[in-house]
This record gives sequence, structure tokens and C-alpha cells, in this order.
Amino acid sequence: MRFVAVDDLEPGMKLGRKIINRNVVSMLQKGVVLNEMTIARLKINGYLGAYIVDDISEDIEIGETISEQTFEEGVTAVEEADVGSIIEVAKQMVADISKLDRISVDMLDLRSFDDYTYHHSVNVAVYAVAVAAKMELPEEKIQEVAVAALCHDLGKTKIDPAIINKKGRLDDDEFEEIRRHPKYSYDMLYDNELVSSSVRQAVICHHENENGSGYPNGKESFEIPLSAKIIHAVDVYDALTSRRAYKEPYAPVDALEYITGGKGILFDPRVVEVMMTVIPAYPPGMDVILSNGERAVVSAHTTLALRPVIKLHGTGKEIDLSKDPDYSTVFITASGLLLQESSEVESLNEGRPGKDVIKKKVLVVDDSSISRGQTKSALQSVYDVTSLESGTACINYIKAKGAPDLLIMDIDMPGMDGVTTVENLHEYDTGDMKIVFLTAVADRDTVIRCKMAGAADYILKPVNPIYLRERVSIAIDKNLDR
Ligand SMILES: [Fe+2]
Ligand SMILES: [Fe+2]
Repeated sequence: MRFVAVDDLEPGMKLGRKIINRNVVSMLQKGVVLNEMTIARLKINGYLGAYIVDDISEDIEIGETISEQTFEEGVTAVEEADVGSIIEVAKQMVADISKLDRISVDMLDLRSFDDYTYHHSVNVAVYAVAVAAKMELPEEKIQEVAVAALCHDLGKTKIDPAIINKKGRLDDDEFEEIRRHPKYSYDMLYDNELVSSSVRQAVICHHENENGSGYPNGKESFEIPLSAKIIHAVDVYDALTSRRAYKEPYAPVDALEYITGGKGILFDPRVVEVMMTVIPAYPPGMDVILSNGERAVVSAHTTLALRPVIKLHGTGKEIDLSKDPDYSTVFITASGLLLQESSEVESLNEGRPGKDVIKKKVLVVDDSSISRGQTKSALQSVYDVTSLESGTACINYIKAKGAPDLLIMDIDMPGMDGVTTVENLHEYDTGDMKIVFLTAVADRDTVIRCKMAGAADYILKPVNPIYLRERVSIAIDKNLDR
């Protein structure tokens, strides 16, 4: 079985796994041969793709983390906000996962646009239970994680769908409303005696960040329960890998790269490390492009997350990238759902807000030319980027040309440092300019200085391009989890 992106599906391909749609109990059964009409229906409904079986993929096995039945029951229970059923499904999930020899979430979720919130909650629960089980938490704790994960976004049903699905930037009121959803979820569970207070705490804290920059209460690392930390990290992973009205999906490897970039800042380091072992960067059945130009499909795991066993398209030859001496210098350059459209990482930004409008202005200030270049190249496909080498040059630029939409400021610079530069800028009208600091160390003092100077965010150097791009998008477009 292998995963084929919706644009690459062809009539005659045979489904390897049923496609679930919440309106029609089972839209297309396993074994169905696709035709023009069924493919068109999958496109219209916003599916990412489908698992199909063909000669090359016949012997590629993709393990199920939880049974199809448990998954469907989970979707229904969440949709109906039926806490009794949610608890039953949570038990079944924990039981399903405890039967696995090796905990790995290999199966991609095949959801449509409409099914986002409900499938998302079940996916988050699957990932969260996998992480909790791998951490060897006690069974009742894993069960608690499962219930909280299934309930984490229940409060979104209280928010106008026009806000949830809005394309482009949210205004301040809409943004505030989105940020209320953990509290709404908490309130919905408040009087329910089936739900323990630790489940409610996990629910209300699922958007809190390690550094205190999260919401709704800005809690810091030591104040956030472990179950909430687990749900937080896998929640972001699932949101990044899904297609939404306002963004294209990230490939798993890129979403994991983002999570790694936020380690210790947004996410608990221990949780991130375990996550990397239970969510594969290149799951079996996924298409990849190699640095020598060959195309292949991932056929099995190895002990190295970035070097799986693959099968070459065309010849069907199997190669273990972790061992094969002929391929020791060959690596995977692209993977995921958009391969036919573009093999470049830039494809991540297609369809993002700002594509058809004037590019937002970003000013990068950094004394290191290497670092300036890296920041610029990570952002220039999406933004109008200017770079300068000192605080003085920055102030002169803003005096002459006005403020950009976003200022990315290195902290550690000779002469005027980044924070002092930003403080000096307070004299001028910088309008709605957002500030993101770059720093080599994120100790408490630095973080407090950044906050006092009005920073929207700070990013650790050396810059991880995917993390930088997503954080910039969040700072400028308020494009967070909706
Ligand atoms: Fe949420
Ligand atoms: Fe969520």
C-alpha cells in the first residue's frame, strides 16, 4: 500500500484503505477501483490523497496504531461532544496501542476539509497516547491524556466557523476569540463528574508554551502539567501536517523540524525527543525524491529516522538507505503530498495568505553576514526582505523609509545591541510593526529583556528555516491553530 496525493490519483488505481467521511459512513471502501468521478469527488471534498495498492507497493505494510473502528467511534464521539462515549473510545485507544510491538504512528489521516476538527482531535489523541505510552507513564495517566486530547478543542464549537475558516489574517477581536477556545473546552467539561480535574487542567493548558508565551494564562514550564505538554506538541504537529483553508500541509519531516525548532521554547524537550521516536519523518508508503534525482516510495523503517528502506519507482528495487554503500552519500530531498507540483520547500508557502497581494515587508538586522543570508533565504520567497548589519543602520533606515511589517533583530551585535536598538526605536512611529529577536542564548534575563522591549517572539540561532518561516507567519498573519 502507498499514499498517493490527490492530484496524482489516476482512474484504475485500487484503494488500499477505506476513506472515511463523517457525512457518509464510509464514502469509499477498501478495494474500490477509482474512476474519474470518484477522483473528482475526493478533490472537491479537499482530501489530501488516498492509500492505493499496486505492484510496487503490494508488500509495503502500513501498521495501524488504532483500529479503523476505534477511529470512527472517536470521530463520532467528539462530534457529538458525548463525554461518556469519549471515555469509552479513550479506553479502547489505550488498549489498541498497548498491543503494539513497536509504537509508531505510520498511517496518515485521510480527512476532508469538513472533517478537520473531529479528525484532528482523534489524531491528536492517537499521537498523544503513543507519546505517553512510549514515556511509560502509568496506565491511568495515559488514559487521562487520551480523554483530554479528545476533548481539547471541544470549545471550538462555540466559535463562529467563519473565524475558524477565515482565509488570511485574523483581526485582533477574532484572534482573541480563537484564544478563548481552551477555556471554552474547560467550561464545557466543568460540571461533568465523569471528568477529573487533571483532565480539565490538561485541556485548558494545551496552548501554553514552555517560555510562558502561550495562552490563555501564560503559564510557564513548571506550571504546565505533563499531559498538556504532550497534547500541545502533537496538536501543533497535526495542525501543521493538515490542509486548511489558509494553508497547505507540511510534510511530516518538515513539521517535525518545526517541533524541534521550538524545543525548550514552546515545547517540553523530553516530549519532543519521544515524539521523534514515535512519529516517523518518512512513514512507509510515502513518496520521496532522492538527491540523485531518483523517485522512490518508503517501504520500511530502519533504526535511522532519516534513512528508511525505500523502493525505487520504475524498477521496484529495494534499497536500505541506512546500510547500502552505493547510497551512502544519497539523501532524501523532498517528501510528502505535493511532489508532482514542486519538489522545493517553497511549495509549503503556495496558497498561503499574501500570495496574490503585496508582499509584507521584513527588515533583518544582524551583524553576521552568514546569518543575514540564512534568514533572508528562508523568507524571501514569501516576504519582501531587506537586510542591514547594525542597529544604527536600522534606525536610519526606519527614519528614512518608515517601519516594516516585521523587524527581525539579532540581539548580540557590536556597538548598539538589538534590544537597545529596539528601545531607541520607541521614539519613532513604527505603527503596527512586529518584532522578533534572534538570540544564541535564551536564558531568563534575555527572555525578559525581549518581552520588555515588546517582542512578539524570539528565535534561537542558528536559525532553523522552517521554524523561522512559521514563527514569522504567526507573528505577521496570526496564523495559529484554528
Ligand atoms: Fe486548541
Ligand atoms: Fe487542537
